[in-house]
Amino acid sequence: MIDNQSEKRVIFTASVSGNKAIGGDFFRLRLELDSCATEAFKDIKPGQFAQLDLSTLALPRAEQIPEELSDKAGRGIILRRPFSFADVKYAGNKVTVEILYCVLGPGTLRIKTLKPVDTINMIGPLGNGFEIPRDKKLAILAAGGMGSPPLEHLAKELQNHCPKTEVIVFAGAKSVSQLPYLDIKLDKISKEPDFVINEFVQYNAKSLISTDDGSAGFKGFVTDMLKNWLKDNKPAGSDTIIYTCGPEVMMSSVAAISAEYDIPCQVSLERMMACGTGLCQGCAVKYIDKKTKETGYKLCCKDGPVFWADEVVW
Ligand SMILES: Cc1cc2nc3c(=O)[nH]c(=O)nc-3n(C[C@H](O)[C@H](O)[C@H](O)COP(=O)(O)OP(=O)(O)OC[C@H]3O[C@@H](n4cnc5c(N)ncnc54)[C@H](O)[C@@H]3O)c2cc1C
Ligand code: FES
Repeated sequence: MIDNQSEKRVIFTASVSGNKAIGGDFFRLRLELDSCATEAFKDIKPGQFAQLDLSTLALPRAEQIPEELSDKAGRGIILRRPFSFADVKYAGNKVTVEILYCVLGPGTLRIKTLKPVDTINMIGPLGNGFEIPRDKKLAILAAGGMGSPPLEHLAKELQNHCPKTEVIVFAGAKSVSQLPYLDIKLDKISKEPDFVINEFVQYNAKSLISTDDGSAGFKGFVTDMLKNWLKDNKPAGSDTIIYTCGPEVMMSSVAAISAEYDIPCQVSLERMMACGTGLCQGCAVKYIDKKTKETGYKLCCKDGPVFWADEVVW
């Protein structure tokens, strides 16, 4: 387990300053935080998250509700929904955060209706976030589908705190339409496999794309692309760190690859969460103590969502 941040969470209101479609079912929501959140968000780590209260938000007009969601769109949103941050910006006393979200159900469908001047209630920052050891020469970020947001924030922090560390992003999805990025230079993918995702390029991180169906970049799983790259490049395990976020099956495969190459690896788990603050005990993660080999349970929302890969029982 990664050491927890001191409990700094606050409940506050954020004002919407943008909610932009970036293609397919993906959107970027920009929120200006109120002054009581400024202190709490000052030292936020990538991978920490917030619980959003979506219970009072309106539904989009009927014709804007995708057919596959028409049955469940009207359900009440009793529980808050967890979201990590793709970006956090500071200007004087003002904190702006960006949430990259995918419309999947009644909650995210409602977020789509938010427009500038609307407000939203949040609790955060929650959880622990990624650790950034300063002595690494190479950081590998492996993003599966919607696992990208905390890794975008991480790429920014790596550039801020470890400018000499080389950062390479391996980003995969089922097909090109499910890559949650704004400006993928599709025409460049075949010619220049690096530097194709602007969201990462801006932090001087190289990016390599894979799609399961071969519609862009490497054809196959992101984990296969990563394995091939490690086989060809053989980075020293002690100089390298892997960070990953995505579907659990993909992260367990990244965990196995990291063990094979003896590279430390941190995973950000996305469990279903009810309270998000350690009260309901609903987000248990089975872990193993590396020294004693004893197993037990941690809470994803409170002790995680980031864990060392070799401490999770997959
Ligand atoms: C720590 C954390 C950070 C997250 N960060 C982001 C983010 O940056 N962007 C983003 O779009 N989403 C993120 N999620 C997932 C997000 O919380 C869910 O997509 C959202 O709650 C769906 O709400 P809904 O009402 O629209 O759909 P629901 O009807 O609640 O769910 C729609 C579908 O998604 C599945 N689902 C819901 N929550 C999760 C989950 N936590 N893990 C796996 N499957 C889930 C459900 O089983 C269902 O099939 C994060 C989740 C966690 C735990
Ligand atoms: S979601 Fe309630 S304890 Fe984690």
